Amino acid sequence: MERELTLELVRVTEMAALAAAQWMGRGRKNAADGAATNAMRTMFDSVCVNGTVVIGEGEMDEAPMLYIGEKVGNAETPEVDVAVDPLEGTNILAKGLPNALSVIAMADKGNLLHAPDMYMQKLAVGPRAAGKIHLDDPIEKTLEIVAKANNKRIVDCTVMILDRPRHRELIEAVRKAGARVRLIGDGDVASALATAFDDTGIDICAGIGGAPEGVIAAAALKCLGGEMQARLVPEDDSEYRRCLSMGIEDPNRILTMDDLVRGNDAIFAATGVTDGELLKGVRFRGGEIAETYSLVMRAKSRTLRYINTVHNLKYKPHYDLIKES
Ligand code: FBP
Repeated sequence: MERELTLELVRVTEMAALAAAQWMGRGRKNAADGAATNAMRTMFDSVCVNGTVVIGEGEMDEAPMLYIGEKVGNAETPEVDVAVDPLEGTNILAKGLPNALSVIAMADKGNLLHAPDMYMQKLAVGPRAAGKIHLDDPIEKTLEIVAKANNKRIVDCTVMILDRPRHRELIEAVRKAGARVRLIGDGDVASALATAFDDTGIDICAGIGGAPEGVIAAAALKCLGGEMQARLVPEDDSEYRRCLSMGIEDPNRILTMDDLVRGNDAIFAATGVTDGELLKGVRFRGGEIAETYSLVMRAKSRTLRYINTVHNLKYKPHYDLIKES
């Protein structure tokens, strides 16, 4: 993939974030998601790739656009797999809470895991602890390993976990081991990413979240030199069969970084929708001016770019303003 694609992808996440941000705090997550999806889909028409959505808004019969299998981009080459989440954290956005993002991951065709829409157990860490963790280690052992790698005491380590009843035992175990816990309502892509940035103070992201988000987060961690290990969590027979039908021969096995994102070339782009750990959210500056804050990275070169863009919405033909009621 050409490096120029990085900027192309940021333009796409920026547009989705601008569309979603108008809906912040209005309690209407589906409207926000729809606006973001629509904007992202439209912008993809200007991207020079022959892309196939492998992680998107759902199956063809349940999602009008950016559905799994949909072709995106306007070129014959390069052939790429695309994983999108136009609005990661729909509830967050609806409540105006932190860490809603618009995200895209892209890799050469065949290199992103075609993850079914089900739960996935995840363990993510930053670059210093990469290569040292194991998904099946008890969290106490993981904490010892990560604390040592990050040159901290366990009491100074922080584990970010989705605040769900299914994580009660995990949360208790972390507390008992002496570490600190940060519970989040939603948005585990942002928390996996946070493990790779020292100033977030997050050392580990652990627990069960969405499988599609897991692949997107793994692409980001590949660009950052971090690590994620994961395992699909099919909840019934039909989900188990769905894994098999999607080519995952053993749905119970641990998925490594290379299973989630093969090879060493991936691009990840994210634009903040609401303020978060790493990125500020969209700012509407008055008049027709809005500002976005994005991060785009390439695994091949390990380059991170922070892009701050000033948009004049008057000149954005694809930007739909919501009407004042
Ligand atoms: P949406 O943006 O689709 O609402 O997902 C938000 C999210 O919190 C993800 O970050 C996470 O992986 C998943 O939902 C967790 O699922 P659940 O809310 O069912 O526990």
